[in-house]
Amino acid sequence: MFNLVIFGAPGSGKGTQSEKIIDTYGLHHISTGELLRDQISRGTDLGKIADSYISKGQLIPDDLMIRILETELDTPKAANGVIFDGFPRTIPQADALKKMLERRGTSLHTVVGLEVDDAELMDRLVKRGKDSGRSDDNPDTIKNRLNVYHSTTQPLRDYYLNEGSYHGVKGTGTVDEIFNHIRTHIDTIKK
Ligand code: AP5
Ligand code: MG
Repeated sequence: MFNLVIFGAPGSGKGTQSEKIIDTYGLHHISTGELLRDQISRGTDLGKIADSYISKGQLIPDDLMIRILETELDTPKAANGVIFDGFPRTIPQADALKKMLERRGTSLHTVVGLEVDDAELMDRLVKRGKDSGRSDDNPDTIKNRLNVYHSTTQPLRDYYLNEGSYHGVKGTGTVDEIFNHIRTHIDTIKK
């Protein structure tokens, strides 16, 4: 089992690079954002709660998010290993992930951080907002998402640096260039 966190700010390319990692390594993709957007589009109770946070660019409460993640981890598809995209986003989520993996006899093998500056992130997300249909891809909400990232999520970079599991990658350039860096890193630790 090989477990990887793809880490980075909103718009840093987590979803884009996840697709390439899945194609190459056959890991199961758990994107907490996609999972919540699916609940919103199906109009479920969870979707209604999630929408009230997402549309403002705020995080869903930890206890709820951790419960959802735990259920996802127990699907048979997760048996080979998981790429966590958008989770963890807070220190309590990172602590919970560590325990969840330990209970299943496994651990986190690496955290790949996509490093992109705010101006580029804003530019990418405003552009995507023209046709993404995402309620959080408008300039005001994007600003909020970036603020939440810097105050609450970015400290996880130090958390994982201290653990020795953080590997930063320059998140600008072509999608393939960035993926090549990630692939070299994964192949090194898989050896
Ligand atoms: P989530 O869905 O995780 O969104 P996000 O973190 O804001 O990030 P995005 O999905 O917008 O960007 P990305 O990094 O995946 O980049 P992408 O590949 O799309 O979360 C949404 C919300 O859900 C949160 O705000 C929160 O409310 C809630 N939530 C989710 N997880 C939670 C959690 N754990 N706890 C609490 N709440 C949670 O790329 C972005 C754009 O850039 C695309 O248009 C892409 O084509 C383009 N692009 C990609 N790579 C490049 C490149 N190399 N050069 C130029 N453009 C590029
Ligand atoms: Mg994404």
